[in-house]
Amino acid sequence: MTDAATPKPVAVVTGASSGIGAATTRRLVDEGYQVHAVARRADRLAALAVATGCETHTLDVTDTDALVELASAIGPVDVLVNNAGLGRMDATLEKGTLSDITRTIDTNVTALMVATMVFLPSMTERRSGHIVNIGSMAGLYPLASATYGASKAAVNRFCTNLRLELRGTGIRVTEICPGRVATEFYDVAVTDPAKRERSKNSGVKEITSDELADTIFYALSVPAHVNINRIELQPTEQTYGGMNFDATVPADSDIA
Ligand SMILES: NC(=O)c1ccc[n+]([C@@H]2O[C@H](COP(=O)([O-])OP(=O)(O)OC[C@H]3O[C@@H](n4cnc5c(N)ncnc54)[C@H](OP(=O)(O)O)[C@@H]3O)[C@@H](O)[C@H]2O)c1
Repeated sequence: MTDAATPKPVAVVTGASSGIGAATTRRLVDEGYQVHAVARRADRLAALAVATGCETHTLDVTDTDALVELASAIGPVDVLVNNAGLGRMDATLEKGTLSDITRTIDTNVTALMVATMVFLPSMTERRSGHIVNIGSMAGLYPLASATYGASKAAVNRFCTNLRLELRGTGIRVTEICPGRVATEFYDVAVTDPAKRERSKNSGVKEITSDELADTIFYALSVPAHVNINRIELQPTEQTYGGMNFDATVPADSDIA
């Protein structure tokens, strides 16, 4: 927590209109941050602003010009949480479309890298800052979703290599790799309603967005000389590779 005399640390959270991003915004505001919440759905952001007092920016993170303008409008930031993302779990290469690939890579990879690039100068100038990237267990372990897994594997390598690029700058980089979290992610990821229902009723007790936000805040709250490189967390009843290892079940019915 900060006292009234100390300027509030500034955080930018992308994908703040629901799920992990909304919970992280709530948590960081509670912890005394001035939070800039970014997403496309203006109505959701407006409700979040009323509930928390965060500032809101309605934009598509795949719009590079909009990200450049955002960074210049906000000025120096202390924390960037690159959380905006999506998966198209039932869009296998066999059944998906080209836009499933481009949308996933543009959002999960390119936009995350661009956001990092545009907010980084204010951190390097002050030789402090913290970049938190939301990866996935799907980026570290096999899952029957090649495009999503590839996008999150890119996030994993981006984080490790960025750590090397930033050595000596005082800037921290953390990758958070969740397994299944109860959010709207699966409304986008699974288009077939029957499959979505099955996925939502798997019987596994999922991690909540608030628990994810606790994890992110833990990484932010350790002393500045400690860098939490990566945190992997899954529901206790979920194992690597989604929830299905039965080879007789088609891959695209797997549950992340
Ligand atoms: N839920 C899980 O089980 C799980 C597991 C591992 C990793 N993750 C990762 O966690 C992150 C957050 O997902 P979530 O689970 O919280 O799902 P969610 O509730 O669907 O949230 C996704 C957020 O990303 C935003 N977003 C998506 N595309 C965007 C774009 N082009 N521009 C701006 N914002 C965009 C959405 O906002 P708008 O639609 O309003 O733009 C929304 O706020 C994602 O990176 C996801 O890959 C989730």
